[in-house]
Amino acid sequence: MCGIVAYTGNKQAYPFLINGLKRLEYRGYDSAGVALLSENQIRLYKKQGKVADLERFCATEDLSAHTGIAHTRWATHGEPNDENAHPHLSEDGSLALIHNGIVENYLSLKNELLKRGYVFKSHTDTEVLIHLIQDIRKTEQVDLVEAVQMALSVVVGTYALAILSSEYSKQIIAAKKGSPLLIGLGKNEFFVGSDGAPIVEYTQKVVYLNDEEVAVLHPDKELQITNIRNEKQRPSIQKLELKLEQIEKGGFEHFMLKEIFEQPKAIVDSMRGRINTQKDVVSLGGIIEYENKMLNAKRFIIAACGTSWHAGLVGEHIFESLIRVPVEVEYASEFRYRNPIINEDDVLIAISQSGETADTLAAIELAKRKGATVIGICNVVGSSIARSTHAGSYTHAGPEIGVASTKAFTAQVTVLTLMALSLARKKGTISLSYYYQLVNGLGAIPEKIEAILKKNDEIKEIARYFVDKQNVIYLGRGVNFPVALEGALKLKEISYIHAEGYPAAEMKHGPIALIDEAMPVVILATEQETYEKIVSNIQEVKSRRGKIISIVSEGDETVKNMSDFCIEIPKTEELLSPLVASVPLQLLAYHVALLRGCDVDKPRNLAKSVSVE
Ligand code: G6P
Repeated sequence: MCGIVAYTGNKQAYPFLINGLKRLEYRGYDSAGVALLSENQIRLYKKQGKVADLERFCATEDLSAHTGIAHTRWATHGEPNDENAHPHLSEDGSLALIHNGIVENYLSLKNELLKRGYVFKSHTDTEVLIHLIQDIRKTEQVDLVEAVQMALSVVVGTYALAILSSEYSKQIIAAKKGSPLLIGLGKNEFFVGSDGAPIVEYTQKVVYLNDEEVAVLHPDKELQITNIRNEKQRPSIQKLELKLEQIEKGGFEHFMLKEIFEQPKAIVDSMRGRINTQKDVVSLGGIIEYENKMLNAKRFIIAACGTSWHAGLVGEHIFESLIRVPVEVEYASEFRYRNPIINEDDVLIAISQSGETADTLAAIELAKRKGATVIGICNVVGSSIARSTHAGSYTHAGPEIGVASTKAFTAQVTVLTLMALSLARKKGTISLSYYYQLVNGLGAIPEKIEAILKKNDEIKEIARYFVDKQNVIYLGRGVNFPVALEGALKLKEISYIHAEGYPAAEMKHGPIALIDEAMPVVILATEQETYEKIVSNIQEVKSRRGKIISIVSEGDETVKNMSDFCIEIPKTEELLSPLVASVPLQLLAYHVALLRGCDVDKPRNLAKSVSVE
């Protein structure tokens, strides 16, 4: 979603700002803007569209300044246009503000400000905030930092923000609550980013702002942090755990393709150090302190959104089958609002790639309030979810930039499998032979994915068949039903073809009505307990002249002969099959989207990190 970058120091600000906005493009946005401060004047440029449009728009302007803020906006309040783009100015033009998050009480604040004669140029909640700061400043006769603290005390909602003032040359005020913000420390310079991507090129020394903290950045002064009650806070300087090459394409045409190809490594990294050399102990360091809670849990609740929710559904199969404890998988957004029954002996597992998803965070807070133990499975180290859970395990998949999640999914399933294996072994709910079979099977997954990646060209050919299709059905059963959901999600996210995932047997209860010669049906038919039933489901589609695109285990001639297109994948244990079966579906979606001329890494309307409800 929205992205923030800011700079103050001895260098030119604009090159850093524009480069930073490009690094944040992956988050998803629909307009961009920049405000520069020099000689006590703020110059503002903003544009609907891509960062490249903003760059063209500014090309002939004087962009020299040592201090500036810039933003990519993902529209919530007010449509994507130039006026609603950030930064927003105070009425007298002396303050400029960029903001991530939502001011939930913006309407009541706006009505109050309207009564006081303020004129609004945009439909955003952010503009309310800048007028409010200006109003407090005037009426309370306080300095700018105090005005910001006081304004933020009346705000209900979330924010990460940066402010320039024409009165305070070289100074930036930054603040955060519920939306991440980090400050990079250079020599007589400060960098600000809503994540580490814009900063990593310049410094690895960072301070993560905590909720309700307000920082004052001035190149000639020490970093000053207070909270919104004006109490001094001590900055904790940390090392930014990110490498530049991780956020670059490394020779691939798109981040998504790079990330699909990184899966063997991501899985190895997610397993690293967690299985001992004799393979008889699986142990996840991050949850050891809460292991007893997990071993004694009466129920697991998995809360997540999007692709992470699909990983949760796979996790449900794995946990129930290995640990024999009931698991419920919840959309975090639904869970948080339906007054769910949560007991103290429940363990909630929150899964999130970004670690910033607002609904998942809210589900965590709810579960904690009700006394449950909360375990996180996150990819981004130090993210809000990683910090708000009692304990957790990182997925170690490395930064995921493509909006459509790929390697995070397989890494999440890997960590869920490791968790289940470790608990099952301690609970004695798994036989030794099956335990070794799964541990060895997991170890062999990266190599099997490598074999699938070699089929990239073959899958590219199959993708041609989909280019002009309007609808696709994905079918799977058992542990591969979530893979069907995930395959359909990938296709719709990036190719804009309508796709639906269904449990294969449910087809008769509705979707079968849609099947005719124009309907492609992608079916997961790898070796599994219900294989024969899947063969019958294929017959049902064929009898209605639907087109079969099957994913089968190597050597399967039966389904292959029934299919219009067939992708063979290496055999693995049924419980581990989502780790391999999801990969050809990712490649298929990628190639279909590419052939349809879609922006694969930045699909329309989507955001990588959904930090608002
Ligand atoms: C967005 C992303 C999805 C992701 C979902 C949950 O919708 O576009 O790829 O699966 O959020 O995000 P999380 O970071 O919590 O896994």
